[in-house]
Amino acid sequence: MQFSKRLSLFGDEIFAALNRRKVELEASGKRIYNLSVGTPDFETPAHIRQALIEAAEDPENWKYALRDLPELLQAVCGYYARRFGVQITPDEVMSVNGSQEGIGHIGLALCDEGDVVLLPDPGYPVFTAGSLLGGAKPYYYPLLEENGFLPDLSAIPRETAEAAKYMIVSFPSNPAGSVAGEAFYRELVDFAKKYDILIIHDNAYSDIIFDGKEGRSFFNVPGAREVGVEFFSLSKSFNVTGARISFLIGRTDVIQAVRLLRSQIDFGMFLPVQRAAIAALNGPREAVVRQCADYQARRDALCGGLRSIGWAVPDSKGSMFVWAKLPQGHQDSMVFCMQLMEKAGVICTPGASFGPHGEGYVRFALVLPPQEICEVVQAIRESGLL
Ligand SMILES: Cc1ncc(COP(=O)(O)O)c(C=O)c1O
Repeated sequence: MQFSKRLSLFGDEIFAALNRRKVELEASGKRIYNLSVGTPDFETPAHIRQALIEAAEDPENWKYALRDLPELLQAVCGYYARRFGVQITPDEVMSVNGSQEGIGHIGLALCDEGDVVLLPDPGYPVFTAGSLLGGAKPYYYPLLEENGFLPDLSAIPRETAEAAKYMIVSFPSNPAGSVAGEAFYRELVDFAKKYDILIIHDNAYSDIIFDGKEGRSFFNVPGAREVGVEFFSLSKSFNVTGARISFLIGRTDVIQAVRLLRSQIDFGMFLPVQRAAIAALNGPREAVVRQCADYQARRDALCGGLRSIGWAVPDSKGSMFVWAKLPQGHQDSMVFCMQLMEKAGVICTPGASFGPHGEGYVRFALVLPPQEICEVVQAIRESGLL
């Protein structure tokens, strides 16, 4: 059978060998430290699990949801007001089954064949996939070390900016661990206004930001409401990655377009999951704050530990990732990952999988407690790769 040409957009053969070896090693019984996956190891708070369990007892809640519960939309609005000081109304909110799915469909709702979109390199892979599915033509803006892994808007050619339909921006950054401040966002809003570009801010790590900085919403920036939408995921803040809870928030014309598309293919978020989301949004935040401190302790153990053994890895500023330039003498991130896996039993992700500018780097996920991260550092030291 001749399958869709679309599938050729998603080849991942180069990673097959790495994945095969990972599975073999994990099955071998050898001590393996898997820092490649971005799935938190922290527990989902009890009140969120309880809300889902209680809702699941009611047979009515097993029917098609068909809509976002008014209490859910209200809970998002309340959360944005309390957490970010941003006033939004329910018509500016829609649920998506995770930001992954929402971004995966964004191009289908917003793009026509050949439309130019601006995406980060290195960047989270679904930014590309969701844009290509909509037929868009990505222009990749680089996140470079010399710019603190932030976009240099002035380097985007004028004709490209004039042609661009949307720009996806995401801080704290996966994979670069960089954080953008007020000055950058103000510049971004001006840029979006000047060239009439929709900004799609992917805010997956608003609660994992280090060294006393406060995670914010894109809508904290003056003028952002006119130019943008934000994906706001509960996955990492509340450790509900498997429940697939996220929201698209902001400009109602964009919300309506995405809602129209999704209404063709989806009957709404499972009602017990909606109840769990309400419990998360309206519930206590102590665990979220504590967890951020825990991530910072892990960051300190990994970045500090690696520096102490001679690998100059800067402190990640936010997200649950550390972005490490390959040690001296290594050039190929895929080869290095394979060697690290074989010699140290440490699994990380090749930077090349996040785009061409990711080559020369690897990404570690902070998914082990500090004690085990110290063991990781020790294993890397003993591997002889540095
Ligand atoms: C930048 C970024 N966006 C989106 C996601 C996916 O979030 P969700 O679980 O809401 O689909 C991730 C997950 O790792 C991410 O790193």
